[in-house]
Amino acid sequence: MYIRRVKNMNIGILKESGEAENRVAVSPTVCSQWAKLGWHLFVEKGAGEATSWKDSNYEDSGAKILSRKEVFDTCDILCGVNPLDKESAKQLKESQLVVSLMFHRTNNELVEIVKAQKAQYLSLDAIPRISRAQSMDVLSSQANLGGYKAVILGANYMEKIFPMMMTAAGTITPAKVLIFGVGVAGLQAIATAKRLGAVVEATDVRPETKEQVESLGGKFIEVKGVEVESEGGYAKEASDEYRAKQREAVNKSLANADLVITTAQVPGRKAPVLIDKEQLSLMKRGSVIVDMAAEQGGNCEGCVSGEVAEVGGVKIIGALNLPSTVSANASELFAKNIDSLLKLIIKEEKLHLDMEDEIVNQALIVGNNQSTAAS
Ligand code: NAI
Repeated sequence: MYIRRVKNMNIGILKESGEAENRVAVSPTVCSQWAKLGWHLFVEKGAGEATSWKDSNYEDSGAKILSRKEVFDTCDILCGVNPLDKESAKQLKESQLVVSLMFHRTNNELVEIVKAQKAQYLSLDAIPRISRAQSMDVLSSQANLGGYKAVILGANYMEKIFPMMMTAAGTITPAKVLIFGVGVAGLQAIATAKRLGAVVEATDVRPETKEQVESLGGKFIEVKGVEVESEGGYAKEASDEYRAKQREAVNKSLANADLVITTAQVPGRKAPVLIDKEQLSLMKRGSVIVDMAAEQGGNCEGCVSGEVAEVGGVKIIGALNLPSTVSANASELFAKNIDSLLKLIIKEEKLHLDMEDEIVNQALIVGNNQSTAAS
């Protein structure tokens, strides 16, 4: 076990620099809880402003506002949402710990810089998806909000409403929603569309999702006669045979759908194409697809990441970073995830990076086993 003594647990909260990123890793509410634990908090100037949290809100929560350089110079732990940019990573000091998303499998340059600086990096996306780590799981907390927002976004582009309505002028039939991929985002999309009154169908390569779809009042579209393996709950790549059977199984629903939400991903790979040009041509004019896998190449042919494309009267929304569009909730949940993680690794003002612990072992992408005492 690596135990580093720290005189004062100085924790920094960084301002995100990415385009269209409104989130911040730690909220004023969680800051004030940490201040009560005696942790010393330093917030980069303007860190919360994209979420309407002023510097003064953080000061009222017991934090001190500093420039980015001062935060880097002062803190033992730096908290962020997105992977640290390369220039900032070069400013890291020996043993300093960064806690944020890292996506290390596709971000080798960042890994190498952190190693060269002899700093440490706990990657939030590498936390194992085990029950004990659920409270630290930012992938789930953010995907859940993304699934909700995908439905709302789709609703804004639709020419129809969701619920059935019986009026003096006639009856409106409920909208038909089809969801591809029943992970965390897909489940929330089903629940949200149901709450709004839509008739919902969903499909997934993992047969165990059938029961989850049905428990939310949706209809599961089964792809019969061919199996796709899964590993640790994640889907593996589907075969051409599966893809052909899936087309057969979903095409009728696709042709009737008013809104389609695609969420299908395979870890470490480009997102699978689930709706090709030929299938698009089956869809009704005026229908809408929200492609939540746009950043990973998209589940739908013709999807343009970050834009709304139109193919044969079907609008395809290349949805990017939906959690950022509900940044107050997203940041609050992100902060609570980090809170749970820090409480695992900070004990009595000491940083415990216990490599025997499965969570630390898998998430500490760059560690420093030399026990350098800071006090
Ligand atoms: P994801 O974002 O990696 O993928 C979304 C969904 O797409 C998955 O359900 C996947 O099976 C499906 N998919 C992949 N390829 C497909 C294809 N060709 N056609 C149709 N569907 C396809 O999934 P997410 O939300 O990250 O969840 C992954 C797994 O982790 C799930 O089993 C989930 O239950 C599990 N999980 C476990 C947690 C825990 O125990 N702490 C917390 C959160 C998730």
